[in-house]
Amino acid sequence: MIGLYYSDEVVEEVRARNDIVDVIGSYVNLKHKGNSYTACCPFHHEKTPSFHVSRERQMYHCFGCGVGGNVYTFLMEHENMSFPEAVESLAERAGVSLPERAMSKDERKKEDERSRIKEMNKIAAGYFHYLLKTEHGKNALEYLTKRGLTEETITKFGLGYSDKYSDDLYKYLKSKGYNDEEMLKAGLIKVDEKYGASDRFWNRVMYPIIDPNNRVIGFGGRVMGDGTPKYINSQDTPVFDKSRNLYGLNLAKKSKRKGIIFCEGYMDVISMHQAGFDNAVASLGTALTVGQVNLIKRYTDRVYLAYDSDDAGTKAALRALSIMREFELPARVISLKPYKDPDELIQTEGTQEFEKRIEEAISGIMFEIGKLEEGFDQNDPQERTEFQKEAAKCLSKIMDPLERNNYIDSVSEKYGIDKASLKEAVTAFGVSKAGIIDNSVFKQQERRGSPQEEKEKQNLKSERVLITWLINDESLIPKVCLYLQPEDFFDEVYRDVVKMIYEQYNTNSKVEPAVIMNHYHSMEEHEKVASIMQQDFGVEIDEVERSQAVTDLVKRIKRKSIQKQLEGAGTDLMLIKRLMDEKKAIEKIIINVS
Ligand code: GTP
Ligand code: MN
Repeated sequence: MIGLYYSDEVVEEVRARNDIVDVIGSYVNLKHKGNSYTACCPFHHEKTPSFHVSRERQMYHCFGCGVGGNVYTFLMEHENMSFPEAVESLAERAGVSLPERAMSKDERKKEDERSRIKEMNKIAAGYFHYLLKTEHGKNALEYLTKRGLTEETITKFGLGYSDKYSDDLYKYLKSKGYNDEEMLKAGLIKVDEKYGASDRFWNRVMYPIIDPNNRVIGFGGRVMGDGTPKYINSQDTPVFDKSRNLYGLNLAKKSKRKGIIFCEGYMDVISMHQAGFDNAVASLGTALTVGQVNLIKRYTDRVYLAYDSDDAGTKAALRALSIMREFELPARVISLKPYKDPDELIQTEGTQEFEKRIEEAISGIMFEIGKLEEGFDQNDPQERTEFQKEAAKCLSKIMDPLERNNYIDSVSEKYGIDKASLKEAVTAFGVSKAGIIDNSVFKQQERRGSPQEEKEKQNLKSERVLITWLINDESLIPKVCLYLQPEDFFDEVYRDVVKMIYEQYNTNSKVEPAVIMNHYHSMEEHEKVASIMQQDFGVEIDEVERSQAVTDLVKRIKRKSIQKQLEGAGTDLMLIKRLMDEKKAIEKIIINVS
């Protein structure tokens, strides 16, 4: 629980004035069902709804991928907002006026630094764009125009030019009151011991990288012509995380076209947008990351890959496909042959041809199998068998049985493989995998550790489960608090949660999970706390079993707590004696659940 941006009262008022059903309902199509609202989860791909929103608890939870939280969590996850941004956005929605943020000194410093960097980036982008239109930027403008970009496109993407003096931007920003340290942090300059400060980008065409909230977060700069390096990109900074952003997403998110087209280069994105394919994005000079796939899932449930047609592009596409599959994001591959990239295809063949290529795009699986085929000599019976086995393996990764069968049909037809045999081979692979493949990316990786680690994990689990019980059945609280104090909980976050549960119960005789969530401000904390706040949809068990289960949990947590205290007791015999007595008393604990 790091310091607060807004006071607890304000955060709670804003939360209470924004009904979670209304807020989530404005992003997701919710269906009323019993005492909750359901929908297909916006955070993972699914066909039957397992996403639940409860008006009573003001919480949501997905039983498929495990996400959950209150109205703030939702905005943080769904809209990529920070906690204060979520508070601000909901305050505006409910017409609550916010007081000045109360920040700790450290937070203030960090927040100031971030906003200075954003300001600087914006000023730099404006300056580069301005230069492009002056005499200094003549060559750059000519370069872009020669590559077929219109004035409108140049403006839309905010393209610019960094001057040929190596300290031009440096001087400009200095005149605006920025110092070396912050320019360095923003990745706009380099500092050399001998030569001092110089611009990171000079004499290059500049592509500002703009996030979905329309903030300039970084830059790509291209040489005009054949020099090296071809591109220089901003390094990661406090406002720029390459692995969680996509070039062009600020525009693509508004597109009316179906799906999102992924490509490799800045120029490809720009060229496609100019041709009307305004749903194109590119990763930022690195291979596609899990963070980017996660990000794109908020915007679409269908992806096209328009990667370069060379070996490197194919390899990148295969890698991207495997990530997409893991995230259950259906992907189709656009063939650009004989052209190198989308830009070249559009420049040579035009819009209609590209439209046709989109229509003809093949599914990721068929693309993979096609690439596999190239690796085997189809005239050699042994190699052909190997190919068929590999193809079967590939097909066995399709989880949906109908879809798998359809692909078996297509593959057997396309490659002249006996359908029944192929099916058998696929099933053989499938059986060994059944039940193993799940949404492993979403679930916290349950890595097996040393016995000690396993025990720690078990202890944490006891704490987590007990808290879930407390939240789901308030009548347990007065019984459990006779034996367990917040300090008995080993995990720091759980300890605070229990403290809040007890406090809420003592003042209002009830627990409000959504209010507890208010106290957490990072996505990690929200995920952790939300996971213990989920509704208990466990199997119905009778009173005796429930009593036994709760008693066991309480005992286990208490034992662990005493053990820790004993370890820290040193030579204090009085304390040791008292703890030993307490330890003995644990065995007598009986909690009866009614
Ligand atoms: P053009 O060659 O101008 O058409 O650019 P492009 O966007 O098509 O570039 P290309 O397909 O060669 O590369 C794809 C992406 O990889 C680029 O948009 C850059 O993000 C990145 N990239 C390319 N070359 C370099 C380089 O030399 N250094 C770095 N850091 N990134 C590069
Ligand atoms: Mn290109």
